[in-house]
Amino acid sequence: MSETAKSRAAALPHLRRGGFAMGDSIPLPLTMAAIFHAPGDATGFNQYGRFSNPTWDAVEHMLSHLEDAPCVGFPSGMAAISAAFFAVLKAGDHILLPSDGYHTTRALADRFLKPLGVTYDVRPTSTFLDGGFDGYRLAFVETPANPGLDICDIAAVAEAVHKAGALLVVDNTTMTPFGQRPLDHGADIVVAADTKAPNGHSDVLFGHVASRNADIIAAVTGWREVSGSIPGPFEAWLVHRGLETLDVRFDRMCSSAEVIARRLQGHRAITGLRYPGLEGDPSHNLARAQMERFGFLISFELASEQKAEDFINNCSLMQAATSFGGVHTSAERRLKRGDAVPAGFVRLSVGCEPVEELWKAIEASLGRISG
Ligand SMILES: Cc1ncc(COP(=O)(O)O)c(C=O)c1O
Repeated sequence: MSETAKSRAAALPHLRRGGFAMGDSIPLPLTMAAIFHAPGDATGFNQYGRFSNPTWDAVEHMLSHLEDAPCVGFPSGMAAISAAFFAVLKAGDHILLPSDGYHTTRALADRFLKPLGVTYDVRPTSTFLDGGFDGYRLAFVETPANPGLDICDIAAVAEAVHKAGALLVVDNTTMTPFGQRPLDHGADIVVAADTKAPNGHSDVLFGHVASRNADIIAAVTGWREVSGSIPGPFEAWLVHRGLETLDVRFDRMCSSAEVIARRLQGHRAITGLRYPGLEGDPSHNLARAQMERFGFLISFELASEQKAEDFINNCSLMQAATSFGGVHTSAERRLKRGDAVPAGFVRLSVGCEPVEELWKAIEASLGRISG
């Protein structure tokens, strides 16, 4: 971790310190309120729960600290992605999406943007620069892409996208701001599902939009207020608590993933292993250049659907579950969710278990399917 990332991590649990009055609670109080005391002209104060909430403010403060940019919280990652699209796009716009990123983003464009006159193309993440960006209003990348873990060069894409007069949005869900900060590489907007590692306990959905462009933040905040796509205060409170330990969990998860990916290399049951931290991985050089860590996701292929199911279901330290980034190691066959991958393709999310114990469980389960 760089020195700046370390100092961001150190300051994170102390952000509220400056505002304390004698006797205040050090942990964040939860404000469950639809209405606030607002006599006369209450401009600048909390008035109504769709406009503002002190618990949102606290979690957004933490996210802003990590992104070094204003952030707006949403009730899920998809709500954040929707907000970014609806806040900046209009009929007649043409956008570019990754063909190998999270499938629901393409579903959003197909089912809800297209009928409103916003058309889209798709392109693979690894060759996202090829073909240029003329004619597009917005390009959207996910890097590393979920689930194939291909990477694109954010700075190079940002430069080319800006030359074409378009905006670059980066979905940073797989990395978190501790692993990569796309705004520092020139992206205009970051969207993320804090449902994953930032909350980390798999008990809440949340998302955020970050941007250093004040007009974009105003538009996204306006979208939240008018559409009513607001986070619940309790969910915001849980994410606030999760963020306090993100640095520790992310560090453990990435370090363990590096060990496990290395040991999976060459295992006779596995083909198509992908992990950006492996020297031979097609994403490795770019990952070294633009990411602080290599992440906690590993993908690979087992010989059949049955072998993949058996591997996941019979591993004692693995949850068979969709999603990723939680404290529990989990895995899923991504064909189940409609990704364009073989039946035996597995996305593994390395959790916080001690790595040697976790490896023993993974090795034993792989041994059973390859015996
Ligand atoms: C890369 C990526 N972006 C966005 C999302 C959407 O997040 P949420 O489920 O919180 O709406 C996901 C969910 O898996 C994801 O993997």
